[in-house]
Amino acid sequence: MPDSPLAGRKIVLGITGGIAAYKSLSVLRLLGKAGAEVQPVLTPDAERFVPRLTVGALAAREVLVDLWPGDASGSWTKHVELGVWADLIVVAPATAQTLAKLAHGFCDNLLAAVCLSARCPVMVFPAMDHDMWTHPATQANLALLRARGVVVVEPESGPLASGLIGTGRLPEPEAVVAAITGVLVAKEHPASLAGKRVLVTAGPTREHFDPVRFLSNPSTGTMGFAVAAEAARRGADVTLVAGPVALPTPDGVRRIDIVSADDLYTAALREAEAADLVVMTAAVADYAPVERHAHKVKKEDGDQTLALRRTPDTLAELGRRKRSDQTLVGFAMETTDGEAHALGKLERKRLDFIVLNMLGEPGAGFGTTTNRVYVFGADGRRHDLPLADKAEVAARLLDVVAGAA
Ligand SMILES: Cc1cc2nc3c(=O)[nH]c(=O)nc-3n(C[C@H](O)[C@H](O)[C@H](O)COP(=O)(O)O)c2cc1C
Repeated sequence: MPDSPLAGRKIVLGITGGIAAYKSLSVLRLLGKAGAEVQPVLTPDAERFVPRLTVGALAAREVLVDLWPGDASGSWTKHVELGVWADLIVVAPATAQTLAKLAHGFCDNLLAAVCLSARCPVMVFPAMDHDMWTHPATQANLALLRARGVVVVEPESGPLASGLIGTGRLPEPEAVVAAITGVLVAKEHPASLAGKRVLVTAGPTREHFDPVRFLSNPSTGTMGFAVAAEAARRGADVTLVAGPVALPTPDGVRRIDIVSADDLYTAALREAEAADLVVMTAAVADYAPVERHAHKVKKEDGDQTLALRRTPDTLAELGRRKRSDQTLVGFAMETTDGEAHALGKLERKRLDFIVLNMLGEPGAGFGTTTNRVYVFGADGRRHDLPLADKAEVAARLLDVVAGAA
């Protein structure tokens, strides 16, 4: 298969001591048939499930298991060499034990040492009994791994080797190989948006109650401008509807400046009609003063009360009008119960993706140069993007949503 995107790719296939290890034999065979160079690395316990002889025969290579070389002949740096050699390190299946080791930086076997030496993406396919999978320790370890950019492919639900029914099955070998291919392709060919029309909204809105005073929020527009810049770089025809921010217009982007939530509603609905992808990062005010005074309100003794009205919900309206060939991405900034609020918004507003920022998290949210976001898809998939520069987060986000655009 010379045309396979896997041809010539260097892959370390880590196999750990789980009952699903037998499926790794098929994964190995499929990767080899597609032209990948696969170096199997087994944990010592994996050998209890799949014989080294079988793995070696399928890989047509020496199978590596031992951290300690038998003859101390200068091959002790194998783990470092493999960490540099590989285009991708895949651990399939990944036991609870190995996930814990990787999460905490243990390196008492060759596979763990290779993962710790990785200069390439690391991808894990957890597979275990349902209760091990749902245990808070396993989930906390996965959260740590995701936060560091490890790609976690969630196990499937169904009958398990333990006789229980639940979540924990390693996906079938073809699906494992498809996921591996997806990561390698995305790494080298960021999704193109050539020929696509992209609408991005960014920044805060201002809701004036007199010419010199307004209600607003601390959004600086950085995240939305980064998305617009990245979409333009990928060949899209980009329109950016921007609230009042102090940022230069990215190259090749058409910018429409707005002030209030009402302005944003009008501009976004108009521009969305022709858009293939709409990314709403703007921090739109939910309430605006009922009255807008033509002149500055003079101060008087005593307190004042400001009556507020609901502003139009642009995202919900975009969801109502969404064409079947259009992709709609919303942002949610939350301080508590982030996932529940984000998933509620995803469904209520008929979005394709919701991007959650948690305000309390270090490096995330308003005014930072970095961000850390969680992307939830209407198809139930979840992508936890690592803490990174907002430009990098924009690129990773477009990788996720462009597949649907
Ligand atoms: C029959 C049997 C099946 C097992 N299957 C799994 C499994 O599917 N997933 C898992 O996380 N652990 C499983 N374990 C436990 C692991 O083998 C054990 O934690 C081991 O130390 C893992 O080491 P490793 O991650 O270094 O390979 C199983 C154990 C036995 C005895």
